[in-house]
Amino acid sequence: MSYQLTIEPTGDEVEVEEGQNMLDACLRAGIWMPHACCHGLCGTCKVEVLEGDVDVGDASSFALMDMERDEGKVLACCATLESDTVIEADQVSLRSRDVIYASQA
Ligand code: FES
Repeated sequence: MSYQLTIEPTGDEVEVEEGQNMLDACLRAGIWMPHACCHGLCGTCKVEVLEGDVDVGDASSFALMDMERDEGKVLACCATLESDTVIEADQVSLRSRDVIYASQA
């Protein structure tokens, strides 16, 4: 089973397998997001969930504080989807960049 992840503000869409974390799915789909430790410890991959149900996984309470959890923030390297989901994140879509480069050639 898989879920649809929509990433705002660009509207990029990524298919996320059950149990797969958001960051892994995005990187494999050619969408770069800020990240560093990939283990829920640094907070670099923090994103905001706008719609949907997400399991925060093994996010450290230092990297993702209770207040942030209450605000709908998750760490993309730990978070798994439990429904189709919309997030807001800093990102670079390699797919979009390919289109830009192609149109400049
Ligand atoms: S990359 Fe460090 S918490 Fe996700």
